[in-house]
Amino acid sequence: MSKLPCAELHLHIEGTLEPELIFELAARNGIELPYADLDELRARYEFTDLQSFLDLYYANMNVLRTEADFADMTRAYLKRAAAAGVRHVEMMVDPQAHLVRGVSLETCINGVASVLAVSQEEFGVSSALIAAFLRDRSPEEAAKVLTDLLDMNAPIIGIGLDSAEVGNPPENFVPLYEQARAAGLKLVAHAGEEGPSHYIEQALDLLLVDRIDHGIRCMDDPALVERLERDQIPLTICPLSNVRLQAVDSLESHPLPLLLEQGLNVSVNSDDPAYFGGYVDDNFAVLRETFDLNPAQLAQLAGNSITGSFAAAERKDELLAELEAWLLVQGTE
Ligand code: ADE
Ligand code: ZN
Repeated sequence: MSKLPCAELHLHIEGTLEPELIFELAARNGIELPYADLDELRARYEFTDLQSFLDLYYANMNVLRTEADFADMTRAYLKRAAAAGVRHVEMMVDPQAHLVRGVSLETCINGVASVLAVSQEEFGVSSALIAAFLRDRSPEEAAKVLTDLLDMNAPIIGIGLDSAEVGNPPENFVPLYEQARAAGLKLVAHAGEEGPSHYIEQALDLLLVDRIDHGIRCMDDPALVERLERDQIPLTICPLSNVRLQAVDSLESHPLPLLLEQGLNVSVNSDDPAYFGGYVDDNFAVLRETFDLNPAQLAQLAGNSITGSFAAAERKDELLAELEAWLLVQGTE
């Protein structure tokens, strides 16, 4: 089967830092890692919840010091994503995670953005950047960082909200989202990954987000599921992430097929592929095997990723036409 053309809407660029690149960047920057070798690092990739992952995710970022480091990480992702069938990506970056380590906004943003600027020519992947804010740090700090991003004319199309969810509700970030909306930015937020379903409602009603990252806990509230279907709010679902962070009991019990069947705008994404066992094609592969999804269902998921993206109308049309061509040949392969 040829690769399903799709958009990736939920991807943390720092979550694409593969163990091999961690060692390479550590050597380049003269950093001593707390792991003797790749095997010792890989042995840490067992998570019990979101926080257990975040601890390793933030620790590993220590090797990112220069623009070239951010650029190399971004290039490695685009190469792998293109092979996975990704034709458009809207990636998140966590500026505060670098600022607290003494790495400037310019270093992080320019490193990533310099590669995104050529992603279409070099990889055939159109791209956009979303600045994500850490909800377990203060809203005031987030507002200051957003002001700095706007002052430096950072090439971002939107803002997001990530990191430890439970106890850090969307309602804490209303002024930040008002500031971003006033600046003409798109709005997304992680909600209902580990946190309760009312965080999803808060993100919609108080932050006025354009789409929800994860959102799987909507299953606890049938009226909310109905609303998400009615308003076609995109939910960027990350199946392998949910399994590895134990946000679901098993892939077999993942709500994605039910949500798809009920007509919600659900898409498939890799979240932090270097940590969760695979890129977007790996996510599609396990879904197809586990739920016996047919080509039309796979195309619906990929179509949702395109319609739920912030790409220009012409780019969406181009990608939907590619998807239609993919579906046509499925019966003949
Ligand atoms: N940061 C990176 N990955 C994340 C996830 N799955 N949830 C919350 N914050 C994150
Ligand atoms: Zn995420």
